[in-house]
Amino acid sequence: LLERIMNDFLRRLGLEFPLIQAPMAGVSTPEMAAAVSNAGGLGSLGAGSVDAEGMQQMIAATRSKTDRAFNVNVFCHEPAIRDEAKEAAWIKRLRPEFARFNVPPPAKLAEPYPSFLTDDAKLAVLVAERPAVVSFHFGLPSSEQIAALRSAGIVLLATATNLAEAKLIADAGIDAIVAQGYEAGGHRGVFDPAGPDERLGTLALTRLLVKKMDLPVIAAGGIMDGAGIAAALMLGAAAAQLGTAFIACSESSADAGYRSTLFSSAAENTVMTSVISGRPARCLVNEFTRLGAEIDRREVPAYPIAYSVGKALNVAAKATDEFGFGAQWAGQGAPLARALPAAELVATLRREMHEALARRLDG
Ligand SMILES: Cc1cc2nc3c(=O)[nH]c(=O)nc-3n(C[C@H](O)[C@H](O)[C@H](O)COP(=O)(O)O)c2cc1C
Repeated sequence: LLERIMNDFLRRLGLEFPLIQAPMAGVSTPEMAAAVSNAGGLGSLGAGSVDAEGMQQMIAATRSKTDRAFNVNVFCHEPAIRDEAKEAAWIKRLRPEFARFNVPPPAKLAEPYPSFLTDDAKLAVLVAERPAVVSFHFGLPSSEQIAALRSAGIVLLATATNLAEAKLIADAGIDAIVAQGYEAGGHRGVFDPAGPDERLGTLALTRLLVKKMDLPVIAAGGIMDGAGIAAALMLGAAAAQLGTAFIACSESSADAGYRSTLFSSAAENTVMTSVISGRPARCLVNEFTRLGAEIDRREVPAYPIAYSVGKALNVAAKATDEFGFGAQWAGQGAPLARALPAAELVATLRREMHEALARRLDG
């Protein structure tokens, strides 16, 4: 059975079965990525929100635990355009929330991390370290950056949420497309967050890209178990990328509040919100997303500038044991999350996938 589902893409990466653990900035860890790769999937590092040095440390920590391929993810958003009046109005808007926790809001907003598009140091680290895979979210790097990574022998992946983005990805010479459906947890990979959004679901998007594009497609969004991975394969995907399924792993850096919300009935309600970071992201419904529901998206400063005040508000709230202002990203499959060590979760997913495929192919 395994032979029948193996494809060139999986072989090229040395994977034993078609699973990618999603890069999750602030949640996934080198320990998680190494455990997933050692168990036969592809582990990923969420390096979008750390600087070049932080990324290098993550790569070294992963290499100390595995010899296998892993993925390093970076953010390719258009660099934020500053708007002082909007930022000041935003600070004012959130002042009452900070007041609840007896903390003043930050006087000015900062850009917590630059885009990979302008980060030469990060490119230099990737070219020198040569991880097997690098993936891009929120857009594409420049053709020079792509050429440098390709000539270092790195396999490149990029997220698409629609056919137009997938075509740009193919034209740029990327090796495979991550088809991120609207169900997905975390930030939506849309290239232009101000543009129209068709909100395609994982099933429709995966099938569209499989039929219309010549590149391998990796399905992402709402996939929580082996039956979901099998379903992605049935659609013609080369692999499935799972994020929410890994949030509660022992190796995750999700805090106690995030984990307990994930395992409460609150996990049945997720919402797409731009209020936390300035870009749309699917989050467990919490205090912050409820506030966001009352706010016009156009009031929120650009990503990731808004994130700096969002993170400050979360720190102030957490100091009083209020966890409801965290970036508690999760996909629509959240109620199916399992708290397991990553290696055990991967072994379970693998077994479930085989069972599901056997039922369909041989049953
Ligand atoms: C907590 C969390 C953080 C995420 N961070 C990133 C990230 O840093 N880079 C990225 O490309 N995708 C990120 N994503 C999106 C995933 O790559 C993927 O599209 C998504 O997890 C798939 O949907 P699922 O969560 O329903 O499995 C994140 C998702 C979650 C849940």
